[in-house]
Amino acid sequence: MAKIVNSWNDFDPLKRVIVGRADFSVIPPEEPATSEKVPVDSAMRGMWGPRPTETVEKANAQLDYLAKVLEDNGVTVDRPEPLQWNQPVITPDFRTDSMMTCMPPRDILLTIGSEIMASANSFRCRYFEYLAYWPLMNKYFEEDPEFKWTQAPRPRLTDASYKHNYYDEKISLEERLERTANKDFVTTEVEPMWDAADVLRLGKDLFIQHGLTTNRKAMEWFKRYYPDLTVHAVNFPGDPYPIHIDATFVPLRPGLIINNPQRRLPEEQRAIFEANDWQIVDAAMPAHKEPPPLCYSSVWLSMNCLVLDHKTVIIEASEHNQAEQMDKLGMNVIPVPFRDAYPFGGALHCATADVYREGGCEDYFA
Ligand code: ARG
Repeated sequence: MAKIVNSWNDFDPLKRVIVGRADFSVIPPEEPATSEKVPVDSAMRGMWGPRPTETVEKANAQLDYLAKVLEDNGVTVDRPEPLQWNQPVITPDFRTDSMMTCMPPRDILLTIGSEIMASANSFRCRYFEYLAYWPLMNKYFEEDPEFKWTQAPRPRLTDASYKHNYYDEKISLEERLERTANKDFVTTEVEPMWDAADVLRLGKDLFIQHGLTTNRKAMEWFKRYYPDLTVHAVNFPGDPYPIHIDATFVPLRPGLIINNPQRRLPEEQRAIFEANDWQIVDAAMPAHKEPPPLCYSSVWLSMNCLVLDHKTVIIEASEHNQAEQMDKLGMNVIPVPFRDAYPFGGALHCATADVYREGGCEDYFA
């Protein structure tokens, strides 16, 4: 029996990865924590239902191509089994009229060493998304005797988990930024809630973004669950929609991180990086002024790259500024077209989940 699962960071040599699928994707109906993240001028506002077939096909074509590029680079690729997402989610505590998709896997699965844990997402529509990955988890479990298959405590997601009337279309951008700065988010602290994509893994240290999808209680939960790791809460005051850390703060190799210049890490939180000779570089400007249609994310998916090893990175093919910067930073760039997949939840880092990277648990912040 072989070791299948091992990953402690986002940059050591990637050998095995999960790539999402767009089949049956649905734009979920509004629920307490989702309207906060749809920009006011978005065409998606108020709309829900299955995504147009043509967009699903285009996204799948780009996801399949990403899988092929990864395989050509010696990476084993696993794919989830999509469910029919256009079904209601009903629990003893809530009902919502549809699920979403199994994109992106990065939001759901957190790999730490030989453990893959399904997260405690705060969106009701994502409550059963993990099921798409369970056939893979079961396979890893059967084949890798050291694999730890885990599910974080499931949040109840009753109405008490959210601040009601938090969202109001009339709120200005300034007001949103002020809320981010004051760490005033739509989620409450009645139970731990977190999306895996809010957790940045750097060996012995976890940097977890406190924002619209992950709360403080989750940080406390992580501290107790992983007593050998150090948990740092981070937040990025320039982000009006702070969701997932991977279009904001992205490590490329030991000692080097790119940071979204509109969402800079505050001085006091930079100290630990500076004290350990890490360089934090402003990411290049995105090549696009707008995200593609029906997309939740911002143009900053430009920096949401997938690092294959300390010298190689996959970048969205049209993001020439970002590619140029990577080149200057000493990285070889593999361009992959991916804009058609963006509406399904993100770019190249989001659309994947680590299964195996070489290397162990390093202490970068001694
Ligand atoms: N909040 C980010 C932005 O719009 C998008 C992050 C997407 N990441 C993810 N893992 N789904 O800039």
